[in-house]
Amino acid sequence: MQNPERSIVILGTGGTIAGTAVEAGDTIGYRAAQLGVASLVRDVPGLAGQALETEQVAQLDSKDMDYGVWQALARRCAHHLARPEVGGLVITHGTDTLEETAYLLQRVLAPSKPVVLTAAMRPASALHPDGPQNLLDALRVANEPGARGVLAVLGGTVHPGAEVRKSHTYRLDAFCSGDAGPLAYVEAGQLRRLREWPQGEGLGLDLLEPEAADWPWVELVSSHAGADGRVVSALQALGVQGLVVLATGNGTVHERLEAALVRARAAGVKVWRSTRCAQGRVLAKPGDLLPDAGALTPFKARVEVLLQLLLEARRQHGA
Ligand code: SIN
Repeated sequence: MQNPERSIVILGTGGTIAGTAVEAGDTIGYRAAQLGVASLVRDVPGLAGQALETEQVAQLDSKDMDYGVWQALARRCAHHLARPEVGGLVITHGTDTLEETAYLLQRVLAPSKPVVLTAAMRPASALHPDGPQNLLDALRVANEPGARGVLAVLGGTVHPGAEVRKSHTYRLDAFCSGDAGPLAYVEAGQLRRLREWPQGEGLGLDLLEPEAADWPWVELVSSHAGADGRVVSALQALGVQGLVVLATGNGTVHERLEAALVRARAAGVKVWRSTRCAQGRVLAKPGDLLPDAGALTPFKARVEVLLQLLLEARRQHGA
């Protein structure tokens, strides 16, 4: 489904979808972020009649994603979303940190138009690359009447941006939406929707205005056999402002690590518990010593703590 009256803007940030290898058969020894977004679009058949614009916002392997790129991307999204002639956005991204970018954009922008992240598990030079189909499917979703919110489209599956996560290192079908399941499927160009589009209010782009170098420092620590509190003390001494612990099971933490985290929290560090388990949420119970991150994965919880600290800083500065 294409809408020639409303254009779709495709923002490129790099990733394997834009990657190339020396040998076509090489699907792991490639370099990510080699091709420009305009050339990725040229490789997708069936786009005649679709008004498209492309813009290269960044060109990186998403393992190296940083706050400056997030700022630039969020600004360009907000700019294009405000244009009445634009029906939606597609963002080409690396798979490795797509879930963090998707979460950030949903929480900050909560757009009333679709912002669809897509990526690929195989480089563009592969014998059978997945990028062109994923890009075509992402454009299909961006053109869907009524679609809204930050979404991720990979492997014929539509995930809510706030829930999507990478769940496999290599397979083409490498993403899931956790317990709640996918939002929709794209099947031969048809959208089969299972859940509502993401709703909610955005926190506002101005939240990301502080210089990237001044953003709060939030780290992940993990609870495991033999864990103790030394890593927490060391991070505190270095000035960490937020900590998310990858807790065991339903949010339990090794007693020595927990004691250090409780001390850090009393000293002003924002501390949340998430779970190491691949599926499920942390269910709060009486007597919990540390707040939990609910259904957020540790990596999304880390972004949420970052946003909460930015919000606190904004309030303190009276904005
Ligand atoms: C990246 O995340 O940029 C590289 C890996 C990938 O896109 O699959």
